[in-house]
Amino acid sequence: MVAGQQKDRVILVTGASRGIGRAALRALAEEGAHVVATARSLEALAGIEAEAKALGGAATPVACEMSEASDIDRLATVIAARFDRLDGLFGNAGILGKKQAVGDLPPQEFEAALAINLTANFRLLHRLDPLLRKSPAGRALFVTSGVAWKRHAGWAPYSVSKAGLEALVGVYAHEIQDTSVRANLISPGPIRTELRVEAWPEEDPESVPLPEALGPAIVTMLSSDFAQNGVIFDFKSGRYTRCRAPA
Ligand SMILES: NC(=O)c1ccc[n+]([C@@H]2O[C@H](COP(=O)([O-])OP(=O)(O)OC[C@H]3O[C@@H](n4cnc5c(N)ncnc54)[C@H](OP(=O)(O)O)[C@@H]3O)[C@@H](O)[C@H]2O)c1
Repeated sequence: MVAGQQKDRVILVTGASRGIGRAALRALAEEGAHVVATARSLEALAGIEAEAKALGGAATPVACEMSEASDIDRLATVIAARFDRLDGLFGNAGILGKKQAVGDLPPQEFEAALAINLTANFRLLHRLDPLLRKSPAGRALFVTSGVAWKRHAGWAPYSVSKAGLEALVGVYAHEIQDTSVRANLISPGPIRTELRVEAWPEEDPESVPLPEALGPAIVTMLSSDFAQNGVIFDFKSGRYTRCRAPA
């Protein structure tokens, strides 16, 4: 990655208030991107314009509740009106959801995790696909988890939502293969964030990498010269696999 290669590229980062999304915002701003940054509230995004500017880029905060279709519609309208294209979409916002055995899990808890981790990303692709196609090199990147294919008891909402996300991105990648758009996923492995602490409270947070460690990989996979399509980058092993069930 050559420094400044995201210069003037318009990149949407969902879940940019903290954790992996905030680290992505910083890494992209350092490369000169204009980051459209979302979280549920503008308060959670306070100061990001100045932060991005100090790093050499720019940021526009937009409040967006990912489970609200009307919020995603409004976000797409804002991006279309201001930029008329989208060079990168980093679909990162996510929740762990309730950890409970399927027999005990209230259905609304299952639905809530799917709404944010899966349906919202479908809505983002559905609304932003025309704007990604207007970019000379639109790049979509989503965050999955090894739990999409591991079967931990009590993890149905998270596990199912990430498996569905991998299927969604794999299908979309197939659909856009003859365009200038590319769509991929990153599987970060353990990263020191609030979600990780919620998932594994017994783990020593100091034993897992900070979100900043992912910055270079995220910047690379959102850059115009990243040509792969329909792959998952496993950050821990440094390997790429296709978007499909492991053999
Ligand atoms: N950390 C890990 O070890 C790990 C491993 C594998 C995959 N991941 C994935 O990485 C992504 C980022 O997770 P993280 O670890 O950085 O978690 P995090 O620190 O808890 O951050 C989650 C982000 O998502 C946003 N968000 C949550 N619910 C939302 C909603 N309903 N509407 C809009 N935004 C919402 C939060 O913003 P507000 O709360 O400010 O609205 C926040 O910015 C997730 O997709 C997660 O599944 C993480």
